[in-house]
Amino acid sequence: MSERSGTLAEDPFNGRNPTSHERMTGLPWDASYRDGPAPWDIGRPQPAVVRRAFRGGFAGAVLDAGCGTGDNALHVASLGFSVLGVDVAETALAIARKKAADRGIAAEFAVADAFRLERLGRRFETVMDCGMFHTCDGDERPAYVASLASVTEHGGTLYVLCFSDEGPDTGPHPVTQEELRAAFDPGNGWNVAAIEPDRVQTRYHDDDGAPAWFATIKRI
Ligand SMILES: C[S@@+](CC[C@H](N)C(=O)[O-])C[C@H]1O[C@@H](n2cnc3c(N)ncnc32)[C@H](O)[C@@H]1O
Repeated sequence: MSERSGTLAEDPFNGRNPTSHERMTGLPWDASYRDGPAPWDIGRPQPAVVRRAFRGGFAGAVLDAGCGTGDNALHVASLGFSVLGVDVAETALAIARKKAADRGIAAEFAVADAFRLERLGRRFETVMDCGMFHTCDGDERPAYVASLASVTEHGGTLYVLCFSDEGPDTGPHPVTQEELRAAFDPGNGWNVAAIEPDRVQTRYHDDDGAPAWFATIKRI
């Protein structure tokens, strides 16, 4: 991927490569957050994340890649973990920071490209991805997976919550188990420990949400 050039005023992508979703819609991710909640922005943490946290699934410093307006990151931070949420959508990050202040929760939110996480210069014992992986097309996955590997401690855990291809009312970017296993391969520094059927809540599905995979992936 080559970096784009230009000033911020003329480049809504801040010098990074637009993602496949941005190329398809012709809009930066930030636009999704400017006129009210985005379709995925349910205003509370995903139940799958809450359950995993309740079961003691988080440890050490935590990164939320593609954190949006921060409800998942804030839930984990409220349990006492040090959490960094990153996103390219500055409007979403401003909302996340306001939620943190309003709720009195210490959590950090920063602009960062999930395809270039090594630029953070930090490592995390637990990384979560709620809806970021499934926005990547096949060509983008290797770079995203390598970027995640660059910031995940060896022996650390990555959770990926994504739309699944199984069942009625699948979400817009359904992912198969095979695609998850192919992306997070031992050759890339990952071992898929479990892929469990779960649900993703959205603003446009009923209370039961959409079929999802909750993948637990260990950094080798
Ligand atoms: C489907 S939304 C999910 C947001 C949040 N995790 C949630 O559960 O509400 C995907 C998020 O990934 C962010 N995103 C997409 N591409 C990104 C990139 N290259 N770097 C950082 N964030 C990105 C979008 O701005 C958006 O907030």
